[in-house]
Amino acid sequence: MTTMRLLKDIDEPGLATREVYERLGGYAAMRRAVTEMEPDEVLSQISESDVRGRGGAGFAMGKKAGFIPKGDMDKYLVCNADESEPGAFKDRVLIQRNPHLLVEGCIIGARAIGANKAFIYIRGEYELQGDILEAAVAEAYAAGYLGRDILDQGFDLDLVVHRGAGAYICGEETGLLDSLEGKRGNPRLKPPFPANAGLYQGPTLINNVETLCNVPLVIGMGVEEYRKVGSEQSKGTKVVSVSGNVQRPGNYEVALGTTIREIVYDLAGGPLEGREIKCFFPGGSSAPVLTGDEGLDLAYDFETMAQAGSMLGSGSIIVVDDAQPLVPLALRLAQFYRHESCGKCTPCREGTNWTVKMLERVDSGEATPMDLELLQQVQTNIEGNCLCVLGDAMAMPIGSMLVKFRSEFEEHAERARMRNDAALVEQPAVELAAAAQVGPA
Ligand SMILES: Cc1cc2nc3c(=O)[nH]c(=O)nc-3n(C[C@H](O)[C@H](O)[C@H](O)COP(=O)(O)O)c2cc1C
Ligand code: SF4
Repeated sequence: MTTMRLLKDIDEPGLATREVYERLGGYAAMRRAVTEMEPDEVLSQISESDVRGRGGAGFAMGKKAGFIPKGDMDKYLVCNADESEPGAFKDRVLIQRNPHLLVEGCIIGARAIGANKAFIYIRGEYELQGDILEAAVAEAYAAGYLGRDILDQGFDLDLVVHRGAGAYICGEETGLLDSLEGKRGNPRLKPPFPANAGLYQGPTLINNVETLCNVPLVIGMGVEEYRKVGSEQSKGTKVVSVSGNVQRPGNYEVALGTTIREIVYDLAGGPLEGREIKCFFPGGSSAPVLTGDEGLDLAYDFETMAQAGSMLGSGSIIVVDDAQPLVPLALRLAQFYRHESCGKCTPCREGTNWTVKMLERVDSGEATPMDLELLQQVQTNIEGNCLCVLGDAMAMPIGSMLVKFRSEFEEHAERARMRNDAALVEQPAVELAAAAQVGPA
């Protein structure tokens, strides 16, 4: 049921060291890419493999790398290891247990586009993982896999591990670039896209950790073998972070196209005894929710998730069972996005704030049915109207909950209102009793 490629040797003791990694075949693909292949050949293998970005949008890596201009200029490869999406924790395990796979992916990726400088931007909270990665990079330098004249082929590459400072928006690729340049991490207006004007205005390829970890596999096993696993438009495997109301939360690697039921029930153990799945987020907290009925038997791949009106995103399934009320969940999500909004555009800055306020009213019993209507409209007005997709990342899941579970929101508001009314009726008696005890002045 699982198809192990990236996580194949994950439990091997010492895998984070170069010695063990190489004993298990590591760096062979890099050797081939650097000593036996021209950069164009490396790039075309990545393109033919059809490996799609594992960081959120699912854009084909080869196509993006193909946009990088040819020629002699400063070009950059940047690995996005910010992993701050609620529900996502797969890059963490890849970096912690198998850091050399990522280093190898960065070297091959840089070779493909002709970059001589690479950066791994890792979220600040991943302190341990950052240390492990730095140790792996130092080992790669010592072995001559990084630095000047790699493997005597005249190829130079420096790789820097850069730590973030705890902002979700720095995972957005252009916010990340600004942060890397030492500025406040605000998303940039696109175009120009990073492939043309990215880091320090130079051509830049930005890819997620898991995307780059697929690159040594493509070169190592060959395109044909790589493409044998997966579905029509989603090739390879996916490391899926499963969390929420399941018995065995964790990271599971499956062939893209495996059904969600297999992932959630057979691998993650399904919901707790006696519970049913109410809904789930198929691609981290930014993805529109799917109900258990509509989503569990779908294939987990980019195209099927999009057809179902949601997305595979970073590949994180958050399960919500029938014991969880959705209003506090939606409120917590909205608070997260309000806190993380950079505040640059009005629909996101104001919309996330008003969504929190309205959900608080629903929760506290101050909302009227019109408020729910307004709440829905705010989500619609955010979607597609922001500079980056952080605004949409709140509007899409909350909007989908309001559409699919409207009656639950209405009942929650009504129950809270009735509780308030009951408290009001009781209040005079309490006040009278207190007044009687104190007596007249
Ligand atoms: C608010 C926001 C946060 C993001 N966070 C991450 C992240 O933590 N890691 C990541 O790889 N991509 C993240 N992305 C997506 C990146 O902008 C970008 O699409 C991705 O790094 C490209 O890599 P890929 O093509 O390999 O998926 C985020 C996007 C947005 C809008
Ligand atoms: S959508 Fe939000 S986070 Fe993105 S640029 Fe606009 S205000 Fe900033």
